[in-house]
Amino acid sequence: MASKSLWMDIQVSADAPQLEGIAECDVAIIGSGIAGISTAYELCKRGLSVMVVDRGRICGGMTSRTSAHLAPLCDDLVSEMTKVRGREASKLFWESQAAAVDRIEEIQKDERIDCDFRRLDGYLFQGRDMPSETIDQEMDAVREVGAPVHRLVGVPFNGCADRHALRYPRQATFHPLKYIAGVAKACGHSGVTFFSESPVEEVSEDNGIVTVKTARGSIRARHAVVATNSSISDRFAIHTKTAPYRTYVITFEIKRGALPDALYWDTEDPYHYVRLQPGPTNSDYVLVGGEDHKSGEANDADERFKKLETWARNLISGLGTETHRWSGQVLDTIDYAGFIGRDTGSKNIYVAMGDSGQGLSHGVAGAMLNTALILGEDHPWTDLYAPGRIPLKAAKNFVTENATALKSFAEYVAPGELGSLDDLKRGQGAIVRRGLEKIAAYRDDSGALYLYSASCTHIGCHLHWNSFETCWDCPCHGSIFDVGGQPINAPAIGHLHKVEG
Ligand SMILES: Cc1cc2nc3c(=O)[nH]c(=O)nc-3n(C[C@H](O)[C@H](O)[C@H](O)COP(=O)(O)OP(=O)(O)OC[C@H]3O[C@@H](n4cnc5c(N)ncnc54)[C@H](O)[C@@H]3O)c2cc1C
Ligand code: FES
Repeated sequence: MASKSLWMDIQVSADAPQLEGIAECDVAIIGSGIAGISTAYELCKRGLSVMVVDRGRICGGMTSRTSAHLAPLCDDLVSEMTKVRGREASKLFWESQAAAVDRIEEIQKDERIDCDFRRLDGYLFQGRDMPSETIDQEMDAVREVGAPVHRLVGVPFNGCADRHALRYPRQATFHPLKYIAGVAKACGHSGVTFFSESPVEEVSEDNGIVTVKTARGSIRARHAVVATNSSISDRFAIHTKTAPYRTYVITFEIKRGALPDALYWDTEDPYHYVRLQPGPTNSDYVLVGGEDHKSGEANDADERFKKLETWARNLISGLGTETHRWSGQVLDTIDYAGFIGRDTGSKNIYVAMGDSGQGLSHGVAGAMLNTALILGEDHPWTDLYAPGRIPLKAAKNFVTENATALKSFAEYVAPGELGSLDDLKRGQGAIVRRGLEKIAAYRDDSGALYLYSASCTHIGCHLHWNSFETCWDCPCHGSIFDVGGQPINAPAIGHLHKVEG
């Protein structure tokens, strides 16, 4: 089965034109995922003129690949976050993420967006062979930050009657693309202009004016918000504090009522995550996710889906046929909060980068925070998410995550995966060595060859083939390139360098 998420049939602002010529507005937003569109919404409601520009179609990035659990407590465990950031920051983090979920609830109500939004319980449960102490420690940490939590034994999965668990009330979930389509429509009614298929090549500021440049046009604005999932304006520092992980989701039909409607995730590392989505008459979809690995460090999606399916069929009775499977990328920051606020060294450029499995609530929290900063208002979350922060207590995570770059550069001296281009089959991608050069080679179904340098155009790490998504992944900071060499996920801006056959 090819990669396609449960949400991708919904088109957001499908008629958005390309950016051509010079346009002007108060705020230019680069990126049209949940972070960009939520920011456009907050700003236009405060009376500012806004333009949103995306390299591809509107909301075709990671937001269209999410699983959409809206769970405000730190998903890397509150106990871990408290160790690195302290209790006060952990508390503020939970409050800010909960405020973002409240804001989603409010917006879908105000704008009458039919997006299956609902409040429900969330269960963190003891993974197989994992110690129950993790649950005890987590309960203490959650109580310390003041969030509602209940201790219990047993969750409604097969063989899990004795698993220790925490129940968090008032979590939420929704259909992410129905929601975004509704928010984009409301933005359109308030004068926001969307531009699609317009990759931004440069964001610069001079004399209080920010210029956002694409190949065929530019936007001149008083402010810009870079909401490209991984920042394209801060080219280096922020990326040393972030690591990309690929995560996998598979969905099955299930009879409505067979599994209580709740969010579920376990204490394994990486954790499994489960939720329901209303399906056709009397049926639901169960989404089961996990099997994460550092981006580019595995190319075995079939194995990972098989493991997810086995895990799901063992635990959940009555699973029907598989309906969808897909993967995507999340960014883990070394101190468990995203980077939101004024870009380091800039006056009028702001960044919004989420964290891990909480990127949706980060997108909305980022919209609230950046809007306040643009309007010159003080905001209590400014320091918590400051892009320039140096998290000293996260030094161990910093060293572990940045070892990837060293490993990646060392790969340039290793042999290619295939001896010659003649060995490349149709539909296959592989790294081939030619003299000192490493080539990212792909042969399409008609036999045509696509040859590019295997060096990522961000800062040069060595690319890896992803056969399930048919793309090149960069293990260092999350850039992804299509087989034609075009970047499809930031931070890379430039096309891969073409190599002659
Ligand atoms: C499988 C999976 C499960 C997840 N589960 C959850 C969950 O349960 N809960 C949760 O909160 N989060 C979850 N996340 C994370 C969350 O979905 C993402 O963090 C979030 O959607 C990112 O939103 P964004 O707006 O920052 O980025 P995106 O949605 O990726 O949007 C960024 C946009 O910027 C555009 N762009 C990039 N570069 C340029 C450029 N040079 N010029 C113009 N445009 C550009 C891209 O085309 C893209 O449209 C999950 C993610 C995945 C993949
Ligand atoms: S994403 Fe930074 S080097 Fe590739």
